[in-house]
Amino acid sequence: MDNNEVIEKVFEKVSKMENIGNLASYIPELATIDAEKFGIHIATNSGASYGKGDFDENFSIQSIAKVLSLCLAYKILGERIWERVGVEPSGTGFNSLIQLENDNGIPRNPFINAGAIVVADILISHLDHPKEDLLAFIRSMSPNKTVDYCAKISSSEKTIGYRNIALCNFIKSLGNIKNDPNEVLDFYFDICSLELSCKDLSKLFLFLSNKGKTVHDQLEILTRSQTKRINALLLTCGFYDESGDFAFKVGLPGKSGVGGGIIAIYPNEYTIAVWSPKLNLKGNSYRGMKFLEAFTTLSEVSIF
Ligand code: DON
Repeated sequence: MDNNEVIEKVFEKVSKMENIGNLASYIPELATIDAEKFGIHIATNSGASYGKGDFDENFSIQSIAKVLSLCLAYKILGERIWERVGVEPSGTGFNSLIQLENDNGIPRNPFINAGAIVVADILISHLDHPKEDLLAFIRSMSPNKTVDYCAKISSSEKTIGYRNIALCNFIKSLGNIKNDPNEVLDFYFDICSLELSCKDLSKLFLFLSNKGKTVHDQLEILTRSQTKRINALLLTCGFYDESGDFAFKVGLPGKSGVGGGIIAIYPNEYTIAVWSPKLNLKGNSYRGMKFLEAFTTLSEVSIF
């Protein structure tokens, strides 16, 4: 069975299952999303692509964007970035504060909010126009050049961002935020507000399945070694305290966001994006996890 047939079969199966979970209603604007949206898109290194359901509709990618800001910071700082943020699974929720005091303000990894806030701080220190420069970087690797932030989402999150405000100020007090916390938070919320469709997301992330180079124009985004490390982090930390579960059930590196999106990467083969807004208790898309588990199980391919 080829990937497209597997997508058809699994989409039908998962669509019939009960859609369990809750919207990320702590961000007011995300509470207004249609909970029944369900889209899938696969893009392969050989240029093939296939979508099902709401795959062409933009949604808020939220924490998936943390991978993109990390890649730019890694490109700029090289291995020195790991002095500011760790590479260990946290085993805690995405917005946890608990380990920071013992760890002297060095977040366990770049995908928990604490880590992504430090990455935003690094970008502010090194870029003249952080918001514009990050967007230009993202557009350089995307075949669709219209990808953009969503001001409605970022300002909505700013109104309730108390946890992130606490995280940023706490890390500042421990010396690992170098810029004004308000500026860092504004940029962090902007990063999380990026909107893409499953189709654009899968194509954008192809550089991670293609040894660091874009597939459509062979532009080097990361070196091979850096690409290996980002994929390793995605496998071990991409789903917070559900990372082990995702690796166990799906067997691919990936990243989730509270907008209900998941991107998964099969190195050297393909990327697959899923969007379904209802989240499980760990803040990951309920149907997205179910879909990808069934997809790699039925297609009988995974990195393991
Ligand atoms: O900072 C937050 O809470 C959100 N902007 C992003 C969290 C997120 O996407 C976690 N992922 N599953």
